[in-house]
Amino acid sequence: MTILITGAAGFIGANFVLDWLACNDEPVINLDKLTYAGNLETLASLQGDARHIFVQGDIGDSALVSRLLAEHRPRAVLNFAAESHVDRSILSPEDFIQTNIVGTFRLLEAVRAYWNELEAEARTAFRFLHVSTDEVYGSLGAADPAFREDHRYEPNSPYSASKAASDHLVRACHHTYGLPVLTTNCSNNYGPYHFPEKLIPLMIVNALAGKPLPVYGDGMQVRDWLYVKDHCSAIRRVLESGRPGEVYNVGGWNEKPNIEIVNTVCALLDELRPKADGTSYNTQITTVKDRPGHDRRYAIDASKIERELAWRPLETFASGIRKTVQWYLGNPEWVAHVQSGAYRDWVQTQYASA
Ligand code: NAD
Ligand code: DAU
Repeated sequence: MTILITGAAGFIGANFVLDWLACNDEPVINLDKLTYAGNLETLASLQGDARHIFVQGDIGDSALVSRLLAEHRPRAVLNFAAESHVDRSILSPEDFIQTNIVGTFRLLEAVRAYWNELEAEARTAFRFLHVSTDEVYGSLGAADPAFREDHRYEPNSPYSASKAASDHLVRACHHTYGLPVLTTNCSNNYGPYHFPEKLIPLMIVNALAGKPLPVYGDGMQVRDWLYVKDHCSAIRRVLESGRPGEVYNVGGWNEKPNIEIVNTVCALLDELRPKADGTSYNTQITTVKDRPGHDRRYAIDASKIERELAWRPLETFASGIRKTVQWYLGNPEWVAHVQSGAYRDWVQTQYASA
């Protein structure tokens, strides 16, 4: 038995692989293009571990995906691969269309052809799990109820529009062809190995470097925050017991405005790494121009996954953010390599003597 995971050199996918192999001997084929967001250094502890087979490549490369499926005969494909940063999608949407829409489509086509040829038992047991986002549902008003799985789609950024399109392709593949798909729509993740272009890791690394902490607009946009290890356990639950064709919203029950997140990070750094001059890191907070089309509020109602699959997050925001700040303080080398771009040389350096 084996599973194929796409995009598992990125933040969530890599955390998923590390957790999977920590509690499971089932091998993982990791197909990742290694864009700027792909960082094999995160998976350095798996060097030489036969259970992790890394293949550099694009989910849109149909020949490559078909070959991997034929060679490794996975019982499931988990699709984490995506362009994931909203601000980049606003500046330059093309890659988002290519990977998130065209790439997902081609991946589905290759998987469908493979699945069609499986024996009856394997066909029934097979799963295609698509990792998506709460952003597809659009923005909520302050008093609106949290997103449920039947909330209408109203994506507002090129990123969320491309993820919405991919969700629809996955759904259609089940409805039309019967492919046993599962979709998870998750809120904002945070935790170890998060690329410092996203709010929480950016605030930690900028604070430590004495740089400004840029808060968009009034800082009162609300997100729901989920510790990445909890997201990984939710995906394992859905893969194991989710009903084909179903969607599961995954969240942390932790709605918070951005400014509160930034102040919490500053307070933790004040405690764990106080500044020499005795001032708080929060003096570095600066307000900057808002993100165009910035969604005001996301909130996830994660009661379906709790009711049907008995999943709940283990971390509170207080425990998760403390672990996260401690992880960044304890891993300056990983952070330095990400910031200098040295992580891109990792494959060459690490495997040169192999
Ligand atoms: P990430 O940007 O950290 O990682 C994405 C990974 O996909 C990278 O390793 C990259 O190299 C790879 N990739 C990109 N294009 C590819 C392609 N064409 N073929 C193969 N690999 C490719 O993203 P993440 O934060 O780990 O997010 C993973 C998934 O979870 C995404 O689908 C994202 O939409 C979704 N998601 C993320 C969050 C979050 O808070 N980060 C929340 C909900 C859902
Ligand atoms: O909701 C799930 C989504 O969460 C995922 O689908 C995306 O892949 C992931 O990137 C994330 O999107 P966001 O846009 O919510 O995350 P980001 O960390 O970029 O921003 C979080 C909030 O903080 C958002 O309201 C914008 C704000 N922000 C962000 C940055 C980078 C700032 O105020 N300043 C910043 O410098």
